Amino acid sequence: MDLLTFAEAAAKAGVSEATIRRRVRDGALPEVKFGNRPRVRLPDLQRVFPGTPGLGLNLTPQECRVIGFANQKGGVGKSSCASNLAAILAEDCPVLAIDCDPQGNLTQAFGVNPDVLKMTTYNVLVQRVPIDEAILKPIPQLENLHLIGANLELAAADPQLTGAVQRESRLLKAIEPVKSRFPFIIIDCPPALSILTLNALSASTEIIIPVEVGVFSLRGVSKLMETIREIREITPLLERVRPLANKSDNTNLAKDTRAELEAAFGTELFYTGIRQRNPIREAQAAGLPVSLYRPRDDGTLDFRALADEIRGAVPHGENVAKALSKKETS
Ligand SMILES: Nc1ncnc2c1ncn2[C@@H]1O[C@H](COP(=O)(O)OP(=O)(O)O)[C@@H](O)[C@H]1O
Ligand SMILES: [Mg+2]
Repeated sequence: MDLLTFAEAAAKAGVSEATIRRRVRDGALPEVKFGNRPRVRLPDLQRVFPGTPGLGLNLTPQECRVIGFANQKGGVGKSSCASNLAAILAEDCPVLAIDCDPQGNLTQAFGVNPDVLKMTTYNVLVQRVPIDEAILKPIPQLENLHLIGANLELAAADPQLTGAVQRESRLLKAIEPVKSRFPFIIIDCPPALSILTLNALSASTEIIIPVEVGVFSLRGVSKLMETIREIREITPLLERVRPLANKSDNTNLAKDTRAELEAAFGTELFYTGIRQRNPIREAQAAGLPVSLYRPRDDGTLDFRALADEIRGAVPHGENVAKALSKKETS
């Protein structure tokens, strides 16, 4: 049967009936009149919620985009950009966020206390626990958002994996069984080139390097290039490595460093920059994505623009430029 009631569609796609109704109202899911209840078509459901399991149209492993956030420098915005991007992408499709930092900042960004977790990235990497046992849903309003958390126990992974067989590809192997369910897997790295980071990078199809533009320097660019070369050597699936300008403001320093990044990376630099916004910091401290904490803040708008750029909904270039100039003048 190719027609589903709203309740059936919700159960299949793993979202609430309210979400189905919302997508019918906004026109994304065409409504079909059949019998005495409105229904939706299976292929439409699949299109709107790409990770819907059990439809016989599961994603191929190549369709799963694994995005690692890396930079050996701390405080540049890896965890905040990873958490906020994951939250926005999860408004439309299943997303799995994986915390690979023993500090557990990504875990905390979703309001989860790392210390109470029984199953974390540690158990997946070191004990090879099946990944589904470690997946939790951290935020009730975001039913598509999934998390594998981390806490200080993960700090033991580095020494314990040293000398282990295929110690750098544990994560790559671990996520294989769930790739058909998640169009996006987002990984947060610790601020070091450790075995944990190597695991995250090896599993990634794309790497985003957040750069704090206010404190960036030419020396930073060459260090970044060097790191990228090293990263390319160890990542079999890697397609793109893209810097993201974070904490931008109106200072000349921020403008200069953005120009430097543009000169060094060309169109690989994300057109979207994330502005320096207090609500981004406050939201992280409150354990919520900024899109839920301050839905209309510029910080939320910037992460929405970033998500659009990543999904390819807004092509890099003129259209983004127009959209952004409108945003600035309004
Ligand atoms: N665009 C931004 N505007 C304001 N504060 C930010 C922004 N990006 C990150 N922060 C804050 O900067 C601090 C460091 O960011 P974080 O994401 O934890 O960095 P990292 O994971 O690279 O160490 C956090 O307090 C975070 O909330
Ligand atoms: Mg971090």
